[in-house]
Amino acid sequence: MDNFTFYSPTYFAFGKGTENEAGHYVKRFGGSKVLIHYGGGSVVRSGLLDRVKASLEKEGLGWVELGGVKPNPRSGLVYEGIELCRRENVDFILAVGGGSTIDSSKAIAVGTVYDGDFWDFYQGKAQAEKSLPVGSVLTIAAAGSEGSDGSVITNENGMYKRAYGCELMRPVFAIMNPELTMTLPPYQTASGCTDIMAHVFERYFTNTKHVEITDRLCEGVLKTIIKELPKVLDNPNDYEARANIMWAGTMAHNDVCGVGREQDWASHNLEHELSALYDCAHGAGLAVMFPAWMTYVMHHDVDRFAQFAVRVWGCEMNFENPEETAKEGIARTKEFFRSVGMPTSFEELGAKGEDIPTLLSTLQIEGRTEGHFVELGPKECEEVYRL
Ligand code: NZQ
Ligand code: ZN
Repeated sequence: MDNFTFYSPTYFAFGKGTENEAGHYVKRFGGSKVLIHYGGGSVVRSGLLDRVKASLEKEGLGWVELGGVKPNPRSGLVYEGIELCRRENVDFILAVGGGSTIDSSKAIAVGTVYDGDFWDFYQGKAQAEKSLPVGSVLTIAAAGSEGSDGSVITNENGMYKRAYGCELMRPVFAIMNPELTMTLPPYQTASGCTDIMAHVFERYFTNTKHVEITDRLCEGVLKTIIKELPKVLDNPNDYEARANIMWAGTMAHNDVCGVGREQDWASHNLEHELSALYDCAHGAGLAVMFPAWMTYVMHHDVDRFAQFAVRVWGCEMNFENPEETAKEGIARTKEFFRSVGMPTSFEELGAKGEDIPTLLSTLQIEGRTEGHFVELGPKECEEVYRL
């Protein structure tokens, strides 16, 4: 196991009715004037926004609001949010929604107190030294942004996605009521769960040896999703299954499963160009990318892929020919994605082979590599896209 530091200061309030405590937590974490940030309207339709406002009012807090965050959140709204926060002397950002809303909130939070252009952080030109605090009321189990130190924004000037991560970006609190996820359409539920599994895959396929504890945590999260996702697709109001999925989403990406081991992240970065170009759900893009990536890199460590097949999918170990077991694990992964309604090919996603040069160009892969389990240069990235 590698040396590591782990600091995860997010305060979690989990369970039924917790959204009514939003005001309490904003106050507790020092907010007095709040920006309520939300997406395309699901939180308005569900009545959640009204409940959150009522809880702020109860605590005597002032607020301004900014809706309209799109899935795969855009830089334009971030600039608008920064202007609004400065003008209104906002000192706390409350994200009410999914990963896109939380990521947009994080970008506004670091951008408001920075003299330069917030995009400097996302293109690696600068490091954030301060941030407004961000709290979240989560409505979809997926990106894990409620507990992560990252944020992903699409630059509208060229339509490419970039991630930025720093400890300042971890939300100070996350309110997680599984009931709020019951209004999700099945496709979004499945995309979210695919993203959760993908966050584990990025950590599971590692070159670091002797990482039994994190291997087992990873396998636990994966097995939870495999068991619970079909239940909620069957019955969207299954509270217990929704609750298990929601916490799995946080565990998958707050890095408790990833510390002390080298992580990969090539598939995520390759996917980001897909969701930026085609505006597809990030999880759906990952359902296409991951089986392809797994197939491409499997020979690098057949034993690890065989372990994955046996421990996660319950495949029988073929000691004579471990490669067969490894392949079976990948096939089971792809089959699972298909069974929950996810696309597993470019065609099904609406992506086109002829766009691969564009994807490689926005990935800006020339002269560098993606991933760590296996380092992929421009040629290898192209081959994975083609698979
Ligand atoms: O915008 P509204 O109307 O709210 O609708 C959203 C949106 O259309 C809808 N939705 C959310 N909760 C709902 C609901 N509809 C009905 N009922 C509810 N309870 O679902 C759609 C997707 O929402 P979005 O926030 O985009 O989903 P998700 O949480 O999957 O976030 C995806 C974004 O997160 C980034 C992705 O790249 C993508 O841009 N990621 C962020 C990470 C991070 N910050 O750590 C890591 C991830 O790997 C990921 O890259
Ligand atoms: Zn993801």
